[in-house]
Amino acid sequence: MISEKMVKALNDQINAELYSAYIYSAMQAYFLSVNLDGFANWMSIQTKEEMTHADKFYKFINERNGRIELEAIAKPQKDWKNALEVFEAAYKHEQYVTGRINNLVELAKAEKDYATESFLKWFIDEQVEEEANALKIVEMLKMIKESAGSLIMLDHQLAKREFEKD
Ligand code: FEO
Repeated sequence: MISEKMVKALNDQINAELYSAYIYSAMQAYFLSVNLDGFANWMSIQTKEEMTHADKFYKFINERNGRIELEAIAKPQKDWKNALEVFEAAYKHEQYVTGRINNLVELAKAEKDYATESFLKWFIDEQVEEEANALKIVEMLKMIKESAGSLIMLDHQLAKREFEKD
């Protein structure tokens, strides 16, 4: 039996994951506007991943016989100064999401809801990867600084990212 409090917290996480998708879609649009199509591709894959995260919560709530409730999604930021600023924002956002997942685990433990605690394990591991992926590109962009040639090379590399459904 899942508590109403836990269902509410999981529903809030559906919203947070969809908001993440929205943020990354806005970042994709920014990169398209400055002709960095490889960076835009990376963001497009990230958007899809966030939607699968939302879907995992959606399905889990239903499996536990909870009621799925969708809320409005906030408007994301539209513009950034450069690629580094975008990826610093993405990294910061992933750290925020990690904090949210940790809070969900704390709540599941407090509620003695072992099924939810077990379900959240996948997200604990996923957040390690999410933070590492964003931070790696932040570090590369810091090395690149103002070099247009290196930025274009990285753009080509990021164009290769593909969506992997797990
Ligand atoms: Fe759904 Fe990027 O964490």
